[in-house]
Amino acid sequence: MRALVVDHDAPGGLRLTEVPDPVPGPDEVLVRVAATSLNHGELPRTGNAAAAPGTVPGWDAAGTVERPAASGAGPRAGERVVTWGWSGGWAELRAVSVTDLAVLPDEVDFVRAAALPVAGLTALRALRRAGTEPGHRVAVTGASGGVGHFAVQLARLQGAEVVAVVGDRARGAGLAELGAHQVVTDPAEIGAPVHILLDHVGGPLLARLLDRMADGGTVISIGATSGLDTPIAPYQLVGRRLTLVGIQAGGRVSADLAHLARLVAEERLRVSAGRVADWRSAGDLAEDIVARRVRGKAVLTVS
Ligand SMILES: NC(=O)c1ccc[n+]([C@@H]2O[C@H](COP(=O)([O-])OP(=O)(O)OC[C@H]3O[C@@H](n4cnc5c(N)ncnc54)[C@H](OP(=O)(O)O)[C@@H]3O)[C@@H](O)[C@H]2O)c1
Repeated sequence: MRALVVDHDAPGGLRLTEVPDPVPGPDEVLVRVAATSLNHGELPRTGNAAAAPGTVPGWDAAGTVERPAASGAGPRAGERVVTWGWSGGWAELRAVSVTDLAVLPDEVDFVRAAALPVAGLTALRALRRAGTEPGHRVAVTGASGGVGHFAVQLARLQGAEVVAVVGDRARGAGLAELGAHQVVTDPAEIGAPVHILLDHVGGPLLARLLDRMADGGTVISIGATSGLDTPIAPYQLVGRRLTLVGIQAGGRVSADLAHLARLVAEERLRVSAGRVADWRSAGDLAEDIVARRVRGKAVLTVS
């Protein structure tokens, strides 16, 4: 089969080539992948910088079950599924556990489905972990990105008042339509205190946002895309109790994936794919993500 493999000398660190087909375990289905998406944290220029050349990355993939699991568990041949895993998604065929997928509603096409797993699950779980309630003020940094676009919408669906924090005005385009009450480029623009902060950026921006937190607020640290240290001065915490939580993707995903797909089918959640491209341009697209030239998700179609 063909797959995108790590090649640190290629554009974006990715090359399309022939590799052996995956061999499914007893509780794994074999999926013919139609679309996949790229996440910031799995690119050879970012989180996969230490990956061995020739390995097949890929967390998210959507397609059709070609061969059901030998154990008899999970979906049947021909069913349309969205899948998650730590590798192997950027390929024509993916072997994936029946616990790491959801069957897709007819209304959800593969392109939108492929955008859901890591970005959608992370946003959903971060808001759940934070205990989001109607009326909470929720700020999202890196709101222009893949997780950010889902976080803004899911927070709004939960009745929160949403503040999207972005790098500049152009990066914030479309976020008000997705549900953000406020789109800001500087923490100083935020008025009333924030109860929940979903942070994807870290660094000085995170430090400044701590000053905007309400007493008893919760900061969920999802990513540190800026790569910068966060200079917190002790006085910033005096007189306030804040909870700081780091989260990690993974665990049992089927029910949450099915929930996200249902929200898309019901048109309550939009998949905001700033870029959809043939997987032959994966390397260029990966470079564009790192250079902040993509808004929302980047999806690849497998041809
Ligand atoms: N903990 C977990 O399980 C988990 C799961 C998913 C993602 N993550 C992490 O969460 C972060 C967001 O993921 P994503 O897939 O949404 O990424 P993304 O689509 O690339 O979005 C990241 C956003 O960060 C902002 N940013 C600020 N400084 C940046 C810099 N120096 N370089 C690049 N972007 C910068 C950009 O917004 P502006 O241009 O508007 O500033 C960009 O839109 C990443 O760090 C990722 O690794 C963690």
